[in-house]
This record gives sequence, structure tokens and C-alpha cells, in this order.
Amino acid sequence: MTQSIPHGGKLVNQIDLNFDYSSITTEIEIDKMALSDLELIANGAYSPLTGFLGKEDYESVLYNMRLKAGLVWSLPVTLPVTEELASDIIVGQHVKLTFENTVYGILHVDEMYTPDKLLEAKLVYQTTDQNHPGVKKLIDRPNVYVAGPITLTKVPSKNKRFLQYYNEPASTRKFFKQKNWQTVVGFQTRNPVHRAHEYIQKCALETVDGLFLNPLVGETKSDDIPAEIRMESYEVLLKNYYPSDRVLLSVFPAAMRYAGPKEAIFHALVRKNYGCTHFIVGRDHAGVGDYYGTYDAQEIFKQFPPDDIGINILCFEHSFYCNKCDNMASSKTCPHDKKDHLHLSGTKVREMLRNGVTPTPQFSRPEVIDILMKGMKS
Ligand code: ADX
Repeated sequence: MTQSIPHGGKLVNQIDLNFDYSSITTEIEIDKMALSDLELIANGAYSPLTGFLGKEDYESVLYNMRLKAGLVWSLPVTLPVTEELASDIIVGQHVKLTFENTVYGILHVDEMYTPDKLLEAKLVYQTTDQNHPGVKKLIDRPNVYVAGPITLTKVPSKNKRFLQYYNEPASTRKFFKQKNWQTVVGFQTRNPVHRAHEYIQKCALETVDGLFLNPLVGETKSDDIPAEIRMESYEVLLKNYYPSDRVLLSVFPAAMRYAGPKEAIFHALVRKNYGCTHFIVGRDHAGVGDYYGTYDAQEIFKQFPPDDIGINILCFEHSFYCNKCDNMASSKTCPHDKKDHLHLSGTKVREMLRNGVTPTPQFSRPEVIDILMKGMKS
């Protein structure tokens, strides 16, 4: 198998650090989520997107999980502004995109439209319940969507934390090629690392050449473990338990949507753009609370011909620690009774840490627990 082809055939590059925006007067102050989307559109992680979605693409994505031209795309990537600001914006003009008063990019305004947010919530998140963090975020953001192609003029991740782990898709592709990894499995995570993560990553690594560990470090809900602590736990885990020449740890600056199945497709397509040939989808991928079934995020891929996705999806059963096997296992591999099983999840680890309970080595490696316990105290 050769390296995966970017979604749509070509890696998008909308970065121009020398773009002269001195004559552009209108500016839009964007939020953290839009800033990360801006960066990921520009560096090709969201290929084939070249900007924030216009109305026809937006509706096509909501109803069909495809862009209007037919390519699979499951999440709307939009730029919301207030009605007040929208009234100052003229279709056809360029606007500056600023975050905390620094210009990060330019958008050519092709159109503006007002979404039906409850409909969007229903179609993307399968609920309009505002206890769902993705729905809440959608409702809280302003009401008018501004659409059009963007240019990134300053790379947000380059002046921030995790610089050593920041790689654009063109660089990861080059890295995989240099390593001669014909097959690379991508792993998405937003949680503190536990034994089930390690188990499924290593099961996958038994059959492919390289592991692309790609923790999401963009905006997450407030009770998720901060990215700094999660990255530190990955560093110690890799140092002690992984073959360093077979793993690339690299941050994914996107915001978490918690859209379960639809976000799983998005996560897979993006990792294809980073050069992965395989992508792991385990239990309740990108889920939150009880909004999605345990394997919904695996089932959804069956709606598409595999070539339309273009990356191999490696599905994993809910894995657990079995006291009788004295090992990690799943219902596919373990014959023992449920009472011998220790079920692992990010939620459970977070709960234990919050209650000052030290998770046992069956939950997570002691080195990782140390970092998590220290991190939660500070
Ligand atoms: S996610 O929101 O980023 O998907 P998390 O970091 O918990 O959350 O999960 C990362 C990946 O590991 C996902 O593919 C998820 O389905 C998988 N996963 C997490 N826990 C388990 C488990 N106990 N068994 C199997 N897969 C799991």
C-alpha cells in the first residue's frame, strides 16, 4: 500500500505569512474554536476545505455528510459573527481575522447566512439538549455565519505551548516517508491515557509500520484534563513503554465537538490528510454522556463505500482489564465473567482523580498516574 492520498486528492495550503493586509479595514475577532479551524484549514489538515463553509456546502454536510461536490465531510466548519458585526461586513470584501487583537488571517467574504441552530444541533449532535457540550457551544456562538476562502497570515500554534510537537500535514507525510512507514495508524484522544488506549494502540501497531499519536489539544469542555497534563503523561509513557522509532507524537490543535459518530468520520478524514493509512475507532469515540451508543461511531462508516472514506478504519471492542486473564482483553478475546473485568474509560479515570483515589496500575501506568495526580493538585 502506498501513502494515503489527501482527501479530495491534494493537500490544501492556504498559508501566506507575507500577505499584505494593510489596506483591509474590517476585522472579525474570532473565538478559540474558529482560530483552530482557521489554522487547520490553512495547513491542509481539513483538505479539501479552503475556507469556512458556504450555505450550500453547510446544508449538504448537515443532511448528506458530503460537500455539495460529493466528497464526504461530516462536520460543519463555520465562522459565526454577531448580527451587529455582520451588518458592517460587505459580501465581496476581505476581512481580517483577529484573536486577542492579533491578526491571524484573512477571509474573502463570499456570503453570509443565518443558520437554524436547533436543526444543526439535531443533525450534527442528534440532540438539542444544551447539557451536551457541543450543542451548548453551538448555541452560545453568535448567530450569523460568514463564509469564504481564508489565508493564514500567522500560525497560531507556532507561538504557543507544544511547539516541539506541532507538525503540519505536509511535514508528517514527509516524516512517514523518510521513516519508510508504508502503513501508519492514527490515534485521536482527548483523555488522560489509560491501559485500554495503550492496548488498542499496540494491537494496531502489531499490524502496521507506525503509530501517529495525535492528542487533541484545542478547546475541550472544562472538566476534561488539561492538554499540558495529558501531553506530559504521553511523554512519560512513550519514554518507558513504546518503541521510539515507531511512534510520532504530534498535537492536533482542533477544538473537540463531542459529536460522536459524525466527529469520528471527521477525525478519520483529518488523519488521512496527515498521511495515515489507518485510523482507530474504539468505544464511544468522541462521545459524551449517554448521547451515543457504544459502537455508533463505528457503525456510521458502513454508510459509505470504503473508497469514499479512503482510510482503513480499525474498530476496537470495548476493552477492559481482566483479573483472570491478568491482562487487557475484550469480549472478543476473554472467556471470563464480567465480575473479573475492570472497565476503563477517561470519565472513570477523571472521576477517581477528582475524588483523590489513586487509580491502580490496571487502570493506567504508575508513571502516568503520578503525573495526573500531581497535575490535578496544582
Ligand atoms: S475521544 O473523545 O477522543 O474519542 P478518548 O480519548 O477517551 O476519547 O478515546 C480515544 C480513542 O480510544 C477512541 O477511539 C475511543 O473510542 C478509544 N477508547 C477509549 N477507551 C476505550 C476502551 N475502554 N476500549 C476500547 N476503545 C477505547
